[in-house]
Amino acid sequence: MSHKVLNNVFLKDLGKIDVTSLKTDLLVIPVSTHTKKNNSFKTLDKLSKGYLNKVCNNHFKDKNAPILLPAMQGIAAKNIMLVKDKDSEAQTYKWLDFFASISAKGNSINAKDIAFLVTGNIPKNKDINWFIETAARSFEAGAYIFSETKNKTAKKPSLRNVHLLVDGLSTKELTAAKKSAKQGFAIGEGMNAAKYLGDLPANHATPRIIERKTKALSKEFPKLKVKSLNEKELAKLGMGSYLSVAKGSDEPPRMMIVEYKGGKASDKPIALVGKGITFDTGGISLKPSPAMDEMKWDMCGAASVFGIMTTLARLNADVNVVGILACAENMPSAKATKPGDVVKSMSGQTIEILNTDAEGRLVLCDALTYVGRYKPSYVIDMATLTGAVVVALGRHASGVMSNDQFLADKILEAGENTGDRAWQLPLWDEYMSCTKTNFADLANIGGGREAGTITAAAFLSKFTEDYKWAHIDIAASAWYSSPKKGGTGRPVPLISELILSKKLK
Ligand code: BES
Ligand code: MN
Ligand code: ZN
Repeated sequence: MSHKVLNNVFLKDLGKIDVTSLKTDLLVIPVSTHTKKNNSFKTLDKLSKGYLNKVCNNHFKDKNAPILLPAMQGIAAKNIMLVKDKDSEAQTYKWLDFFASISAKGNSINAKDIAFLVTGNIPKNKDINWFIETAARSFEAGAYIFSETKNKTAKKPSLRNVHLLVDGLSTKELTAAKKSAKQGFAIGEGMNAAKYLGDLPANHATPRIIERKTKALSKEFPKLKVKSLNEKELAKLGMGSYLSVAKGSDEPPRMMIVEYKGGKASDKPIALVGKGITFDTGGISLKPSPAMDEMKWDMCGAASVFGIMTTLARLNADVNVVGILACAENMPSAKATKPGDVVKSMSGQTIEILNTDAEGRLVLCDALTYVGRYKPSYVIDMATLTGAVVVALGRHASGVMSNDQFLADKILEAGENTGDRAWQLPLWDEYMSCTKTNFADLANIGGGREAGTITAAAFLSKFTEDYKWAHIDIAASAWYSSPKKGGTGRPVPLISELILSKKLK
């Protein structure tokens, strides 16, 4: 089942409805220099006998915090919240925080709905459609609260609907804006699905549980065809590398394949491959205890693929995409793979497993070989692959490495556009340290502590030579560490935008 929080995000034309009689729990007015010239604001202010204007003048002179006003005579809204608008120079991440914090505020006052006046600034170089899409996406994503494994203390999101109020748009512009709201909402839903799967504790999201949830998608979205391969089927395909990761666990691995055909039958699909390690202890190369709980998010790549597939299906997008969720649990045990063990991958290349904690690349390499049978136009894998990317880029950017510069450029561009940003690292021949082993064709680590993110991608590149491919390392971007702790839903916006914009040709 997908994971939608809001029932819907609606676009409403203020030319047709009267803002004063609008029944809403929370009317949000962004305040900027031109708010006073806005007709809706003027009408509201008049009813408040100049009170709104006065509050704006006094409050935002020296404070930035939003101000929540109770119901007013003659105005149907139960509360009005004045928020300092972002200026048009503000960067995208500030806008994302701005929208998300309004949703959070809505939940905190138990509002069932929000009406947001789209009257204020729009970031420069962006248009109203970008604004509407981004707002819809962020209101949905910001309304998310994880409560599934809370019992006595569960707090569920109160928000059900968001209304974006626009004014002065032509019929044609309104149609476009409605489409943007729909698209943003669907991307926000995809983010929430990814966050939800990631936030589920590992004992609530084993490979078989994720299998069940993925299979359930085809009931909700008949256009999603879901196949699942169990350990026997993976063995039959020769996925010795993938299977080696699950060997130490009592939880059997599962690889799910989700097909979506919305484009022409002759269009080659874009393939998405997600790392789905439902818990990464490191295996025999055991991880240290501090923050090991965070390794429940080691399936965020697979969770993002799940989310993106729901977004595409919900939008009925006219594209062909195949998504793979490569799930397994990495545990130490008497049956576990040991450092130095050699396994044979589906590609035929043998791999010396020098570190069982470099397990992501071991499941991905077989999944990447498998996906070649779809003759994909492009393959993008997303994986919480290396701690090194956390050091290199921090949480603000995902790391991108690719064997095709056009693809890399489009990924970077979609990242800029959505604020779900990525940064490219080189994938030169010099980094192919994985070839240096005396006992197999490849080793799963190499190069010591240097350039860990790139050497991991270099390993994957040995399995992706037949097609155009990019690898996105989301180890830092997919979740927030303590104290905020929770999935971010990234890179769902980036990849959704990339696919929906049809810039991959
Ligand atoms: N899932 C981890 C990567 C990770 C670490 C993500 C910390 C987020 C925070 C991955 O499986 C891993 O353990 N990678 C090793 C590779 C090393 C053994 C070459 C790492 O990064 O330490
Ligand atoms: Mn690991
Ligand atoms: Zn891992």
